[in-house]
Amino acid sequence: MKTEARIYEEIDAAVAYIQLQTSTKPKVLIVCGSGLGGISKVIDKELTIPFKDIPNWVQSTVEGHEGNLVFGKLNGVDVVAMVGRLHFYEGYSFEETTLPIRVCSDLGVESMIVTNAAGGINQTYNVGDLMVIKDHINFPGLCGFNPLRGVNLSRYGPRFPATSDAYDVKIRDLIRQSNGVEELVEQSSPLRLAGRKVHEGVYTFVSGPSYETNSEVSLISRLGGDCVGMSTVPEVLVARHCGLKVFGLSLITNSCNPQDVTSHTEVLMHASIASADVEKLVTALVKF
Ligand code: 6GU
Repeated sequence: MKTEARIYEEIDAAVAYIQLQTSTKPKVLIVCGSGLGGISKVIDKELTIPFKDIPNWVQSTVEGHEGNLVFGKLNGVDVVAMVGRLHFYEGYSFEETTLPIRVCSDLGVESMIVTNAAGGINQTYNVGDLMVIKDHINFPGLCGFNPLRGVNLSRYGPRFPATSDAYDVKIRDLIRQSNGVEELVEQSSPLRLAGRKVHEGVYTFVSGPSYETNSEVSLISRLGGDCVGMSTVPEVLVARHCGLKVFGLSLITNSCNPQDVTSHTEVLMHASIASADVEKLVTALVKF
């Protein structure tokens, strides 16, 4: 097992490399889901660093994930976006997939907006709907695969961090009350943002890369999961350990009905159709 000092050395090397190239102090970290990296087009870019150039930062191997760290201004706010995310199913350890969150915390980021593509479990959800994450179920975590396992990185946070408040309640209230993102909100019930139905629900993290069997979908449904995906939760746990405020948004790219067979092509297609609306919402939210 690596020592705490050794892990800090690895994180510090990545931070030092980035700080050699830019002195900007991003306030918000945006982590883009599958096919949702279009946000980098609306960022007024100052600098793009490929993941592969950053020491100790592993590369994204998945189609739909570019693999760039983009610095710039969005809606007047200094942001850094991870365009391309790192997943456990790619074979990386959680330490590797979440190092970027620690690095960005050290760069001065105070909050994280995370998006993902997810399968709809809740029968009332349709493809193309959005879901504001209010809570999660961490299946791998319940079985011992938690990104905070191992030596506690005490310069960031405590050994036993709470997670009952993981998803910032103020930002969720703001969206629910259609307050502050008025230009995107249509006064209707159910809530719609940028023309899309918006739910608030529970994201279920599974390791993947296989999609769920019908029995697994039924299990998740009975446990209270509203959607399912292969990302987000590790980043959220590490971000909360670092004391970052977190907002999470799922795009429902496919249904988990037994009669539907999920494919990555379908996921990317629906992500591409919805990405402009997700971008509008993220653009509005960086202010909060
Ligand atoms: Cl149906 N399952 C999982 N695990 N991840 C997904 C998904 C489904 N749809 C998009 N991502």
